[in-house]
Amino acid sequence: MAKPISVEVWNPSGKYRVVSTKSMPGTRWIRLLADNGCRLEICTEKKTILSVDDILALIGNRCDAVIGQLTEDWGEVLFSALKRAGGTAFSNMAVGYNNVDVEAATRNGIAVGNTPGVLTETTAELAASLSLAAARRIVEADQFMRAGLYDGWLPHLFVGNLLKGQTVGVIGAGRIGSAYARMMIEGFKMNLIYYDLYQSTRLEKFVTAYGQFLKANGEQPVTWKRAATMEDVLREADVISLHPVLDKTTYHLINPERLAIMKKEAVLVNASRGPVIDEVALVEHLKANPMFRVGLDVFEDEPYMKPGLAEMKNAVVVPHIASASKWTREGMASLAALNVLGKIKGYPVWGNPNLIEPFLKEDATPPAACPSIVNAKQLGLPSSKL
Ligand code: GLV
Repeated sequence: MAKPISVEVWNPSGKYRVVSTKSMPGTRWIRLLADNGCRLEICTEKKTILSVDDILALIGNRCDAVIGQLTEDWGEVLFSALKRAGGTAFSNMAVGYNNVDVEAATRNGIAVGNTPGVLTETTAELAASLSLAAARRIVEADQFMRAGLYDGWLPHLFVGNLLKGQTVGVIGAGRIGSAYARMMIEGFKMNLIYYDLYQSTRLEKFVTAYGQFLKANGEQPVTWKRAATMEDVLREADVISLHPVLDKTTYHLINPERLAIMKKEAVLVNASRGPVIDEVALVEHLKANPMFRVGLDVFEDEPYMKPGLAEMKNAVVVPHIASASKWTREGMASLAALNVLGKIKGYPVWGNPNLIEPFLKEDATPPAACPSIVNAKQLGLPSSKL
């Protein structure tokens, strides 16, 4: 028999059994479930990434819903097990769900939740932090200081790139890409070039209005351009941030040919998903172009880096922390809990996953709805009126 997985139990006599594969920040999500008839079991295994077998053991013979993590492989095996255990709901504690086979979930009648909206600004702020850290060589300079190498100011010491008046390129101008663009435009008065299948009218209007405001103040106005091709962005921009979803069409979107057309002193930032960049090609490019810099939050073979990346001084690397602010992580936990609770209770699905604030008010009762179910249509779930 498989070794039992250790859990911490809340509200043991609850009618509905809900499993969370990880402890999550804050306590509101726990209260939301425990005070609404759920027996909550939180996995306490000291193992960062749970295997499919670990999760099968957690699901057991009876389970109404699971809250899982982006590191887990949610496919047919887990969804059919959840169905056999009587389950109807799963929520990723993440906005991205490339670790989830949504078709398999739908086949098994399982609703799949995600956590949009609450991490937009936090993730964009991390992408902006990586942009600055890479452009101004913050990590290299910090290491230099700590190594006791600083023996006085020098004209050439850690010279980096000025952002003001340069061009920021955004690939994927959805919620996070647009928020990032605004930060770079408002904060550093950069011009914008973006590529997206959809026109971002709100972003364009914002840049136009901000440009007029600057002009009225006697300053150089900022400008925007919607590029016809991704190559145009790569060729023209000084700082480029990637914000697409990961799917077959965006796998290795940044490849050797596309790296080759970027400016030799460009900054490339990725806080989306690792496989969007061909990381082996990136390491080669970093070696050949010491003035080219990257800021990476995500990696192709996460949690590992491709050989050579860790040695590159022109790379800033952080461990997938883009959504890691207290407010956001606690909010993600609440949204994930409310997704599964809402499905268990038979609530409709919230009409606009971008307007999730009513679910996040600490002391208020949240709306009787699931905040965001990505396969709601396929499952024919009713939608709530806002
Ligand atoms: C984090 O990467 C997320 O998708 O929420």
